[in-house]
Amino acid sequence: MTRSTLLALAVAALVVAAAHASHLEVGFYKQSCPQAEEIVRNAVRRGNAREPGVVAGLIRMHFHDCFVRGCDGSILIDSTPGHTAEKDSVANNPSMRGFDVIDDAKAALEAHCPRTVSCADIVAFAARDGAYLAGGIDYQVPSGRRDGRVSIAAEVLDNNVPGPTFNVSELVESFKRKGLNFDDMVTLSGAHTIGRSHCSSFTQRLYNFSGQVGRTDPSIDPAYAEHLKMRCPWPSSNGQMDPTVVPLDIVTPESFDNQYFKNVLAHKVLFTSDKTLLDSPRTAGVVHLHAAVGKAWELKFAAAMIKMGMIEVLTGYEGEIREKCFVINH
Ligand code: HEM
Ligand SMILES: *[C@@H]1O[C@H](CO)[C@@H](O)[C@H](O)[C@H]1NC(C)=O
Ligand SMILES: *[C@@H]1O[C@H](CO)[C@@H](O)[C@H](O)[C@H]1NC(C)=O
Repeated sequence: MTRSTLLALAVAALVVAAAHASHLEVGFYKQSCPQAEEIVRNAVRRGNAREPGVVAGLIRMHFHDCFVRGCDGSILIDSTPGHTAEKDSVANNPSMRGFDVIDDAKAALEAHCPRTVSCADIVAFAARDGAYLAGGIDYQVPSGRRDGRVSIAAEVLDNNVPGPTFNVSELVESFKRKGLNFDDMVTLSGAHTIGRSHCSSFTQRLYNFSGQVGRTDPSIDPAYAEHLKMRCPWPSSNGQMDPTVVPLDIVTPESFDNQYFKNVLAHKVLFTSDKTLLDSPRTAGVVHLHAAVGKAWELKFAAAMIKMGMIEVLTGYEGEIREKCFVINH
């Protein structure tokens, strides 16, 4: 082979590597760690046996990871003296759960195939496994993400993770910034069919609607509002985080089904960001469809999770494969 043929081959290989690096693929660990996904699923099962309901936290964790610096596992990194990481943003601490499940999965993976499976992929697999355990929704997760080395608490609520007080135009805008459209946004909000919320995430709607003390959001079903007031007194303790939680879906709190959309239509949802899905004709249309045809929502949910899982991913030689998910490599 001549020198120029070699060069041409090397360039071709680089082009292939670059193309390869720019996307994720199902079965990325087929050769390097064939049991990777099974190991994660077993860790999720163990986690949910220890703490029933933690699967909801894992689904939410993938969302909060992907919306800040892409799906790079940055939500998993611990704060260090003088540096507050995403994990300790008010959007995550104390409400985010499931970190122990990820650490357990990572330990098992390191024992089988050291330094091979990224923490970002573990979060993506675990979210899928959570949906499967809670509702039988299963889908193939494209993988090959690499782990980021940066995690900054202040970035979480700075135009990244949307808040529960957002109205429909703010939500559409927030998801659009991440390459997701209004349909994806409504579809993914259906995750609020399982799990729980702290009272503080919605008490303003019960006791201080539009800044008027004593006023309740008139769009909440009155009996549901009374029920919530019993569970969540106001003001929630003096400066301290009230640990009280209530289910997001009052009808079928533990099953991953389309009940959330029926609740939106019945005005029995916790957040402004839930009820506001009826405030625009196009998002309301999607709510009606999902409430009527559960199977359509299931299929769309899987597709939207896969799409969300591709937000600004690191691949190829970018980032690193963390050895422990809660700390960047030395
Ligand atoms: C549309 C914008 C969204 C807003 C404003 C929002 C807001 C919230 C809030 C405030 C909580 C309760 C936190 C607490 O106080 O404990 C929550 C819980 C939850 N969210 Fe969302 N969310 C949104 C979208 C999503 C998406 C896209 C997913 C996943 C695909 C998701 C999955 C969940 C789950 C599963 C829980 C329950 C967590 C648990 O039980 O630990 N949410 N969300
Ligand atoms: C949503 O909130 C934004 C900012 O607070 C406001 O400008 C906008 O008019 C609101 N949109 C709707 C549909 O209420
Ligand atoms: C009621 O809402 C207004 C406007 O959002 C806010 O400024 C005020 O602090 C709230 N009051 C309480 C007691 O939370």
